[in-house]
Amino acid sequence: MATFQTLPGFREFYPDALARRNHVFRLWRQTATTFGFNEYDAPVLEPLELYKTKSGDEIEAQLFSFTDKGGREVALRPEMTPTVCRLVGEKANALKRPIKWFSIAEFYRYERMQKGRGRCFFQFNADIFGEPGIEAESELIALLVQCLCAFGLSEQDFYVRLSDRNLWFYYLEALGLDDARTRAMLSAVDKFEKSGDEAFNSYSEQFGPLDAALKEKVLAFLRVKSLPALEAILSSVPGEKLAARLTDWRRLLGNLEAMGLARFVEVDLAVVRGLAYYTGFVFEAFDRKGELRALAGGGRYDNLVGKLGYGELPAVGFAIGDMTFALLLEQRGLMPTFVQAPDIYAVIGGAQERLAAFGDIHALRAAGFKVDYPMKEVAFGKQFKAASESGAKLALIYGGDELAKGVVKIRDLTNRSEQEIPRDQVLATVKDFYSQH
Ligand code: HAM
Repeated sequence: MATFQTLPGFREFYPDALARRNHVFRLWRQTATTFGFNEYDAPVLEPLELYKTKSGDEIEAQLFSFTDKGGREVALRPEMTPTVCRLVGEKANALKRPIKWFSIAEFYRYERMQKGRGRCFFQFNADIFGEPGIEAESELIALLVQCLCAFGLSEQDFYVRLSDRNLWFYYLEALGLDDARTRAMLSAVDKFEKSGDEAFNSYSEQFGPLDAALKEKVLAFLRVKSLPALEAILSSVPGEKLAARLTDWRRLLGNLEAMGLARFVEVDLAVVRGLAYYTGFVFEAFDRKGELRALAGGGRYDNLVGKLGYGELPAVGFAIGDMTFALLLEQRGLMPTFVQAPDIYAVIGGAQERLAAFGDIHALRAAGFKVDYPMKEVAFGKQFKAASESGAKLALIYGGDELAKGVVKIRDLTNRSEQEIPRDQVLATVKDFYSQH
């Protein structure tokens, strides 16, 4: 008979895989909390309209969307950003600023599958609303770095590429490009790393052959990899906006340096981000070896809350994806293996002993100990084998003789020593043992 397969790109988490996922989520959650971020959650199914024109062509083309039984056009969320804007927009006046929120949730994109890319994946999203200055970027880049360092990764393993769509807008404006040309050019810049000169095809199709001098100037800007290089290239380009922006850059890099994070951050104007809503600083995290797809991406999006029909509210945020991240941890040997061992294994004689054991087992569990026992009556030998294979450090032995004496045998499974303890001392003895082990 044919069996059912998971849909392509969808993932199942067997217990060992789920233990690894939980470990990652636990440390992300802990890190966000130390930075003063509050956790929120939201629906997985949203009105299709929420993503139309807001997220950008690429995400729009990847939506899992359908018409529900009530005739509504809906989509599985491909990202959290429009949703979190709605949540904040709805209650903007009641929320204390700055609003620092995070979430860990699953997303769906109908993507071509490849290493580190699936059709469903988790993201840790962190966003700050209500802060127009670079203080928000400083805080978020620091959080991003710490979310990776918390697992033992260092600057030798990953780095954050920092760029700025504002600088690109001002620079291309100074080169004489109008808004439509600027957007087409940024889309070319976004693709250049992957596609080389072909990235400019769409620009040429729309606006005629690309002027060689213009292309050279764009490529020179795209190759900027440091603040001095940026200052040098801008020294020949007039414009107050550009000069003011350089001040923001110096302050942001200064903050990161003061936090001891300069070693993680590289100026790299080749990054412009594919999503439509970014307005200012943008950043992406990559593995140093350059073997994996992006670990994380984010930036400022000051217009999105307003575009969704709420009052204007400045915003910055980023998301780390779980798939590339797990690959990096595994490559570096930083993903622990989790052993799901009980603390105590109960070895039980017959039906009477079983009833006696149940009372202790439940009391031990209620006190927080992990206790396991055989579901069915089996020979003692088999139970002892199961006890030692379980990984438990202690076995409690409920035999007829012991119960007749009002005692239970407790066996240290590591050194095989045994002692008899009165029934009413079981919890106290186990507590005492585990306080020393
Ligand atoms: P994004 O760059 O589309 O940004 O995604 C962020 C991260 O999610 C990526 O760097 C990658 O690790 C992971 N990711 C994205 N697509 C997939 C996929 N198909 N399979 C596996 N992992 C994937 C955003 O989503 C923005 N909303 C981030 C943001 C938050 N901006 C502001 N706030």
